[in-house]
Amino acid sequence: MILLLIGPPGVGKGTQAKFIIEKLNIPQISTGDMLRSNVREGTELGTKAQEYMSLGKLVPDQVILNMMRSRLSDKDCLNGYILDGFPRTINQAEGLDDLLNEFEKNLDLALIMEIDDSLIINRLSSRRSCKSCSKIYNLLFDPPTSQGKCNVCGDDLFLREDDTPQTIQKRLDIYHKETKPLIQYYTDKNIGKSIDAQGSIEEVKNNIIDAINI
Ligand code: AP5
Repeated sequence: MILLLIGPPGVGKGTQAKFIIEKLNIPQISTGDMLRSNVREGTELGTKAQEYMSLGKLVPDQVILNMMRSRLSDKDCLNGYILDGFPRTINQAEGLDDLLNEFEKNLDLALIMEIDDSLIINRLSSRRSCKSCSKIYNLLFDPPTSQGKCNVCGDDLFLREDDTPQTIQKRLDIYHKETKPLIQYYTDKNIGKSIDAQGSIEEVKNNIIDAINI
């Protein structure tokens, strides 16, 4: 199965992707995580991406499409995957269509996670992520057992540099302008399904399970 998650920053794409990959036994492919790992490792791609990410801007489409061409060719993608944070523009969606054609695959479902903007700043400014295993926490809604440490691997938790109120607003503006048109794009292809993402993590998880029918 090939799925993708569309939704504004902080709606819970990463959180819910972790549940889906366990249920379906397919990899999660998060462009944000891939870029952050390149930034940490100081690669050429990471250095270029950092300039955009720290300002809350989108990394150029061609950079993302080159990265995805390579990732989607990996062996673990043979039986499907869930895309988290990609595509984010119509240009990227068309690039994904081309890649899938080339690999003779089809996109099964685009899950559109919907939430009111007013809930986003709260979710993101209290998010903490693990440095090593990328597990996501929330100080208000899903805190770690010991303060500042990951429950899974024990490493330190950090606040992302793009989770400041000013950058969050910029990311939201870009979502409305560049990414929201994808909702119509996938609705027109009859593979878009809306998910109410305003409730608790568990409630949203159940909404997704119902939508995917797993
Ligand atoms: P990326 O990492 O993809 O960030 P994003 O899309 O802005 O999404 P987030 O990771 O911030 O949020 P999320 O929806 O995954 O929410 P989460 O589950 O963590 O991208 C970062 C940057 O990389 C971009 O700005 C851009 O520069 C670049 N980039 C990435 N992909 C790109 C692309 N394709 N093209 C160009 N540039 C690209 O949840 C958030 C918090 O809320 C957590 O604390 C969580 O615990 C909590 N939470 C989750 N669900 C709930 C709930 N139901 N109730 C209460 N709290 C909840």
